[in-house]
This record gives sequence, structure tokens and C-alpha cells, in this order.
Amino acid sequence: MSDKKRIFSGIQPSGNLHIGNYLGAISNWIKLQDEFDSIFCVVDSHAITVPQDPETLRKKTLEIAKIYLAAGIDPKKSSIFIQSHVPEHAELMWILNTLVKMSELEKMTQFKDKAQNGNSESVAVGLFDYPVLMAADILLYGTEIVPVGEDQKQHVELARDLAKRFNHKFGETFIIPKAFIKEEGMRVMGLDDPTKKMSKSAASEYNYISLTDDVETVKRKIKKAVTDSGSEIIYADEKPALKNLINIYASFSGKSPKEIRTLYVGKGYGDFKTDLAQVINSFLTPFQEKLNAISDEDVREILRAGAEKVKPIAKAKLEEVKKKVGFIL
Ligand code: AMP
Ligand code: TRP
Repeated sequence: MSDKKRIFSGIQPSGNLHIGNYLGAISNWIKLQDEFDSIFCVVDSHAITVPQDPETLRKKTLEIAKIYLAAGIDPKKSSIFIQSHVPEHAELMWILNTLVKMSELEKMTQFKDKAQNGNSESVAVGLFDYPVLMAADILLYGTEIVPVGEDQKQHVELARDLAKRFNHKFGETFIIPKAFIKEEGMRVMGLDDPTKKMSKSAASEYNYISLTDDVETVKRKIKKAVTDSGSEIIYADEKPALKNLINIYASFSGKSPKEIRTLYVGKGYGDFKTDLAQVINSFLTPFQEKLNAISDEDVREILRAGAEKVKPIAKAKLEEVKKKVGFIL
């Protein structure tokens, strides 16, 4: 391809993508695609680690790809593809499965959360193994940088460890990837509970603002968002709910938390929330116009071409791995 450094990232086509996914992940990718050789994946194989309705999964897979495009990922600069279109991911995962330890996977916070804190009886093995598939995604492409949200750092660490372990055992094969985590606004918290991150699998829709929420829904959700005691707009750790709302305001408006604080001296939560909804909507409205203009046919064609582009890279790396472990090719 080129001599630019490679980045790889992905999002699962499950649930509704929200502004946390945009601010914590996708917006970051847009800026990186000029500087790096970028691959962005829709990770459908990861999505089925928890039960999915097949028809919804198909719909969501195309929707995520459309969201990538509407947000500004340019298929001329970056490759966009569907994980299951490149079976090499699953094959490499199998080989990495023979290097990873049960104890390493048991430590994964996301697994512990999803398995409701150790209640692994009813959990699919795929969910347990999820980080190994993610390591395969990353390592197949000689990825140097993995732009993700904070919560994925532990998974990238595992990919690093597995790459080192393989290299140590079989000789230099994998590039050791690094997580790239955006500093400001990196973790968007739930609107109904600022102690937990905004999540597409949250029980209440008042937890998140979906990228497809309309103007009125955004207003309603912001109005209902929890705030801390008091009435002043203050940016402080002791006021986690306000801090989160100010961070969202800052990210979409380009203003600093300090500037926002100054704007609302002498004003209350009401004024602040009205403006915050407007700031969010002035991003979402044009974004949704672009999203709705992309047809299923167009996005399918982009995904097909994306898979064609990345397949040779995955194939070559997997062959190298198979040779090293002693498979006959
Ligand atoms: P997920 O929704 O868990 O599939 O995450 C997709 C991407 O969005 C990952 O890079 C996450 O780290 C990022 N992300 C998810 N939720 C948030 C959040 N509340 N704040 C910031 N980034 C997030
Ligand atoms: N596990 C990631 C998430 O939930 C998604 C993902 C799968 C990913 N494979 C990846 C992210 C490879 C970066 C690189 O957010």
C-alpha cells in the first residue's frame, strides 16, 4: 500500500451508535485518515458474541458503514470493510487462542461487565474470547496504531502481549501495536448516570443520544439529563453530571470548558441545557442529512471494494503465521 503507518479500528454493529462513539472514536479517525494508512472495520463477528437478531444485524452492519461515511471517512483514503468478509481474522484468532491464557481473559473488564461479574455459566465462549479476535483484527494488518476509546485499552494491551509472545516463540512476525486514546472528551458518560460510560446497551434510552435521534428527542433527553445539586454551571470533579454535559458541549462547539463556564455565569441549568441541545443538534442535523443520502447499494459496493483492498494484506500475514507455526501450505 503506502509507507504511511497503519491504523486499524472497528465498531460493533449492535445497538445504536451514540455521541460517545462519535466523540470517543469516529471523530478521532477522521483526523487520522490523512496522516495514516487507515483501515476501519465493521466488526460483525464481534457483535454475535451476544445474541443478535439476524435481520437487525444485517441492517446495523450497513448502518455503521454509512455512519463512517457520513462522519467523513473517505473511502478513497481509507479502507472500510466488514470483518466477516475476511475469514483470515477468525483463522488467526484460532492460532492466537493457543497462546493466550485463560487467566488473561478472565481479567478483562469488559468480559467481567458483560458476564455480570464473573457469572460465566451462561456466557458464550465467544464473549470470553472476544479480545483474541480483536487482537487478530489488529495484528493481521501490521497495525501500529489503534485509535479507540479508553475502555478498549486493556484489549489493545492484550494484542501487544500476544504479538510479543508470538514473536518470541516463532521469530519476528507481528508489529507491536499501540492504543491511541484521545485526551479530551475521551469518555462520554451516561446522561442518566454520570458514573458509567454512555452505552448503546444501556437499559434506558435516556442514557444516550443516538446519532440518529431527531431534534425533539435530543431536546427531551438533554432536559431529562441528571445534574448535580446546586444551580451554577461549574466544571469540577465533584460535579460529574455537569462535567460530562460541559464536556459534550465543549466537544461539539469547539469551546473550552472554561469559556463555557464564563458564558453561563449568572445563568441556570435551564439556559445551559437549551443551548447544549442546540449545539448537539447543529452537529446531528447535517450529519443525518448525509447519512440518509447514502443508499444500501452504494455502501455495499464500498464495503466490497474495501474487503478486496485489505484481503491481500491479511492473506499474506496469515500465510507467514501458518508457516511459522509449522502448518503445511
Ligand atoms: P462500542 O460501543 O463499545 O462498540 O465502542 C465503539 C468505540 O466507541 C470504541 O472505540 C469505544 O471505546 C468508543 N466508545 C464507546 N462508548 C464510549 C463512550 N461512552 N465514550 C467514549 N467513547 C466510547
Ligand atoms: N472491541 C472494540 C469495541 O467494542 C471493537 C473492535 C473490534 C476493535 N476489533 C477491533 C477496535 C480492532 C479496534 C481494533 O469498541
